[in-house]
Amino acid sequence: MVKPLPITFDFATWTQLVPESEIRRLLRFKVRYYFAGGKPGVLPTEALSNTLIELGKYCLQLIGEGERGRVIEVFNYCPTEGVKELRETFANLLRERDGLDVCWEDITITTGSQQAIYAILDVLLNPGDVVIIPRPAYLGFVNAATKFMANIVTVPMTEQGIDPEHVRKAIRLSSEKFNRRPDLIYVIPDSDNPSGTTMPLKRREELFEVALDEGVLIV
Ligand SMILES: Cc1ncc(COP(=O)(O)O)c(C=O)c1O
Repeated sequence: MVKPLPITFDFATWTQLVPESEIRRLLRFKVRYYFAGGKPGVLPTEALSNTLIELGKYCLQLIGEGERGRVIEVFNYCPTEGVKELRETFANLLRERDGLDVCWEDITITTGSQQAIYAILDVLLNPGDVVIIPRPAYLGFVNAATKFMANIVTVPMTEQGIDPEHVRKAIRLSSEKFNRRPDLIYVIPDSDNPSGTTMPLKRREELFEVALDEGVLIV
């Protein structure tokens, strides 16, 4: 039996504001396909294992050479934005593969995309700011936006992702209803969670144009 705690406490108010997960609600029904959790079935297992072995060998070699201090450096805190070499690797990838004009200082490493979502909303949103999201949207984003007390305007998801014209209407709605322009549009252009949709290039370009026209960030 679980023993009650000897003190009582309240959870933070925002925890009461988070709506029930629509996906979990759907899971009460028997479904053929399970879209609730993103759990990659394909991972570079050998490459990841070999990297760990290489790192271990490198550290043992340093210890053998009396360089324990450098090993402590390897496992210690790193700069908040991430290790420079890793940031450079990602910047090179984005430049060479995607033709993006970025340098390593534009890159920040996080422990996952959920941390990135929190960090982005943390620095962009004041209570009452407006965000545009698809309906349905990834719950981790909805919960984070709720926590930062954002007003959420939704646009319907279609088979080709969100429709940029719906986004334009949502921006107008935001001005009418909340008297302010939205701060950002949240979109997952590839393999959206939970809908699984991927936006065709033309739609992405149209969405980009709408965001540029209206001065709204795309996350
Ligand atoms: C769309 C989306 N964003 C973010 C996350 C969280 O990812 P991470 O584990 O990298 O924090 C998930 C996990 O399922 C996801 O589906």
